[in-house]
Amino acid sequence: MNVLRFSDLCAQGRALGQRVFIRADLNVPQDAEGHITEDTRVRASVPCIRMALEAGAAVMVTSHLGRPTEGEFKPSDSLAPVARRLGELLGREVPLVAGWVDGVTVAPGELVLLENCRINPGEKKNNPELARKMAALCDIFVHDAFGTAHRAEASTYGIAQYAPVACAGPLLAAEIDAISQALAQPKRPLVAIVGGSKVSSKLTILQALAANVDQLIVGGGIANTFMLAAGLKIGKSLAEPDLLADARAVIEAMKARGAEVPIPTDVVTAKAFAADAPATIKAAADVADDDLILDIGPDTAARLAGQLKAAGTIVWNGPVGVFEFAAFENGTRTIARAIAESEAFSIAGGGDTLAAIAKYGMDQQVGYISTGGGAFLEVLEGKTLPAFEILQQRAAG
Ligand code: 3PG
Repeated sequence: MNVLRFSDLCAQGRALGQRVFIRADLNVPQDAEGHITEDTRVRASVPCIRMALEAGAAVMVTSHLGRPTEGEFKPSDSLAPVARRLGELLGREVPLVAGWVDGVTVAPGELVLLENCRINPGEKKNNPELARKMAALCDIFVHDAFGTAHRAEASTYGIAQYAPVACAGPLLAAEIDAISQALAQPKRPLVAIVGGSKVSSKLTILQALAANVDQLIVGGGIANTFMLAAGLKIGKSLAEPDLLADARAVIEAMKARGAEVPIPTDVVTAKAFAADAPATIKAAADVADDDLILDIGPDTAARLAGQLKAAGTIVWNGPVGVFEFAAFENGTRTIARAIAESEAFSIAGGGDTLAAIAKYGMDQQVGYISTGGGAFLEVLEGKTLPAFEILQQRAAG
């Protein structure tokens, strides 16, 4: 993907003394007292900020936090906890600036955090006047917020249109590279794992992947619907019978390309959805009317692990069973280990997937862990994200 990269500008000395506006994604979860409970995104923003400071720029950083009402600031919307965490990570004080749209004072070598950009009226709808004002604050706009790359808002899209220079920060660039490596020029076989409770929430992803991947492993409630589509009984398991035709179409589209949706041959069932419900391993053909399928069985897990170990590229979104319960985690753990042991380039994203990666301690063995939630899913759907589109346009023009 041809976009201007901030790392190149810095290496060429083009950021020296310049006003650099970094759009980061610092949208982190907090508890009731406003303590950050998971700071991955704050840590992920540090390399770009350091890069800008080391290049001698005057640095402004902003992000959204939550989904506040524009023009109605509440204390819980504030980036103050993020400023504190960022300060700890950078080893320097990070001043937080409110009411910044009409002007920011920051000197080369200094850093300020600009208060929650979603408070600004016009942000969500990408108001051109607001975007122009933000663009006027800087010489270089750096998009480093992959988590919002699927949004065309004033601080993510409009500012990129109007800023003198618009480029990708190191985090966005790394995401672009990993996505291209996994989906645009994959080493084959390309295997995708799509887990989750509902086909309906991932139907477009399944359809897009069906046109590209060599094996499409489905898990969780999605697999139940595919088992039904393949003529198997699933008892009282979660499924969407109204989407059987769509599931069949995905299976057929894969078959027509000589590719495959591997259907589980054995499963782990229980009579109730509970951590202490007794688990039974049985053949997929033997599922009883009062069974709930809560995981893939060991034979299926071993077969899929073999496919993952032989893969050239792996894309992982979603667990294949209820891995939060020990009795039903074997499938997801086996898949996670197979990905860790595989020589394949792997890319993983999505909240549950990241929780599984953390649980099995495999963050060092996954090729790339995406910071995007909705953005990662839209990439899998085959959409061109607005952030990529505008940065490519700016690089071309
Ligand atoms: C996310 O949490 O996925 C990103 O920060 C985007 O947030 P949004 O869905 O509120 O735009």
